[in-house]
Amino acid sequence: MIRPTIPLAGVIGDPISHSLSPRLHGHWLRRYNLKGHYVPLHINHANLADALRLLPEMGFVGVNVTIPHKEYVLSLASHVTDRAALIGAANTLTFLGDGRIQADNTDGQGFLSNIRQSLPGWTAAAGPALVLGSGGAAKAIVSALISDGAPQVFVANRTRARAEGLKEQFGARVAPQDWTHLGALVGKAALIVNTTSLGMTGQPPLELDLSRLRPPTVVTDIVYAPLETDLLRQARAAGCETVNGLGMLLHQAVPGFERWFGYTPLVDEDLRKAVLGS
Ligand SMILES: NC(=O)c1ccc[n+]([C@@H]2O[C@H](COP(=O)([O-])OP(=O)(O)OC[C@H]3O[C@@H](n4cnc5c(N)ncnc54)[C@H](OP(=O)(O)O)[C@@H]3O)[C@@H](O)[C@H]2O)c1
Repeated sequence: MIRPTIPLAGVIGDPISHSLSPRLHGHWLRRYNLKGHYVPLHINHANLADALRLLPEMGFVGVNVTIPHKEYVLSLASHVTDRAALIGAANTLTFLGDGRIQADNTDGQGFLSNIRQSLPGWTAAAGPALVLGSGGAAKAIVSALISDGAPQVFVANRTRARAEGLKEQFGARVAPQDWTHLGALVGKAALIVNTTSLGMTGQPPLELDLSRLRPPTVVTDIVYAPLETDLLRQARAAGCETVNGLGMLLHQAVPGFERWFGYTPLVDEDLRKAVLGS
C-alpha cells in the first residue's frame, strides 16, 4: 500500500457525535507531533459498504467502528482476525490497499491491558470471574478472560438466553447464571466485571448484593460515566482493588493508532485528562 503523505483515520458509527475517539487520537497525534488527522464519520447502514470502498481512495488508512456497525463490517472485510471472528464483531478496520480491509477486535485486549496497567502482574488465571451482562462488550471480555486463562467465567444476564449463547460460543468454562441471587458468587469470584449499561449516568442503578464481597476480589466496571460507579465505590469501601472503565476505551485504541500512524502511543494521565476534557 502507498501510504498517503497525510494519513487519515476516523470512527464510523450512527450516531457518532458522542464518540470520545477523535479527542483520544487527536491528543496522540499532537503529542507525538505526527502527520495525520482523525475524524468522526456519521455513516448509516445503507452507505457503509460504499463508504468503506471510497475512504481508502480519499487517503484513509483505517477506521474504528462503533454502534451499530460492529457486526456487519465483518461481512465487508477481506481478512478477519481470529479474535474478531470468535467474537463476531470488529472495532478496528485497517485498509491494506487494493480495496482489501482487515477487521480486528481490540476490545478484549483493551480490557485486559486496563486491568494490568492498574494491577501489574494481574492475570485472569487467578480465579473464577463473574461477568454481568451478555451484550457486545461482554462477548469481547469473556473471550479475553478465557484466552488469558480464567478457570471459570460465571455469566449473569437479565435475558438468560444470551448468557447461554456465550457458553455455546466460548465453551464449557462459561457458566450461565440467573440474574438474581448472585450474592454467593460475589463471595467466590476473583474478578467481578459489570458490562451492562446499569449504573451509567441516566440509566437505572446496578442492584447487586455485595455483602459477601472481600479482598482480594478485583472489581471493574466498563461504564466510565461516572468514572467511579456505585459498584466501584462500594467495592473500594469493602477494601477491594477497583479499576474504572475509561482505561478500556483508551487501551483498545492503541493497536489501531499503531497500525495507521506508525507509532506506539502511551496510555497515561495526560491522555485521561485530554479525553475527559479536564
Ligand atoms: N469502557 C469501554 O471501552 C466500553 C466498551 C464497550 C462498551 N462500553 C459500555 O458498556 C455498556 C454495554 O455496551 P454493549 O455494547 O455491550 O451494549 P449491548 O450489546 O446493548 O448490551 C447491553 C447489556 O446490558 C444489559 N442491560 C441493559 N439494560 C439493562 C437493565 N435495565 N437491566 C439489566 N440488564 C440490562 C443487557 O441485558 P439484556 O441482554 O437482557 O438486554 C446486555 O447484557 C455500555 O454502557 C457501553 O457504553 C464501554
